[in-house]
Amino acid sequence: MNQLSHTQYRHSTRLFTDQVIDLATLENIIRTASHAPSWENAQPWKVYLATGDTVKQIRTSHEKAVQDKAKSWTEVTPPLDWKPDQQKNIEHWQTALGDFFNSDELQAFHTAGKKLYHAAAIVYITIPKNASAYLAYDAGAFGYGVLLAAKDAGIGTIPAYEMIRYPDEIRAHFDISSDEALLMGIALGYPASSKINDLKTDRRPLKNFLQIKD
Ligand SMILES: Cc1cc2nc3c(=O)[nH]c(=O)nc-3n(C[C@H](O)[C@H](O)[C@H](O)COP(=O)(O)O)c2cc1C
Repeated sequence: MNQLSHTQYRHSTRLFTDQVIDLATLENIIRTASHAPSWENAQPWKVYLATGDTVKQIRTSHEKAVQDKAKSWTEVTPPLDWKPDQQKNIEHWQTALGDFFNSDELQAFHTAGKKLYHAAAIVYITIPKNASAYLAYDAGAFGYGVLLAAKDAGIGTIPAYEMIRYPDEIRAHFDISSDEALLMGIALGYPASSKINDLKTDRRPLKNFLQIKD
């Protein structure tokens, strides 16, 4: 059997310990990710790193916003409807969650985002407002670089809509131009020992999405 690469072992972490990630490690992760390819090397992403007291303040304001049921919105239009095969994958994922967790655990899984997963650090990625999908492709490559470089450093991650659904709580801490849109937030931290983090998602077989012509 082929050995699985670190890429295949990466999965989302939804609960982090209190352990701080040192700044040099975080900068190394971001430097590594910045080797992502981009259209004519335009490197269209901008990156905002929240750590220390800032991440704690964001976590606190996020929890309050969720409790207050504050209006939630994203600066980039979220997917609004799904094609049938995507819908099938989503349903498959939801069924797998129900099979893996009992109802209390499932509740904890779904509400972990309320506290931003207890992230030790958060990487926010912006792209220019109304950018071409190619720039989102570039920024997505950068984001995946963050996940893999963090994994190599023993650090867990989750990219999540939950991280950027209250843009004001982020903009309050950083000087983010009105020309930029918050595309994604990635939570980082050392994984807590919890069943929440034991979920392994599967992937549809290649034949479902790959055409090969030899
Ligand atoms: C753009 C994006 C948004 C996501 N938003 C959330 C979220 O809000 N809450 C959550 O629990 N997971 C979120 N996820 C994580 C996905 O659920 C996860 O990546 C997927 O189920 C595959 O699992 P894996 O990352 O463990 O391989 C998001 C992932 C991406 C790429």
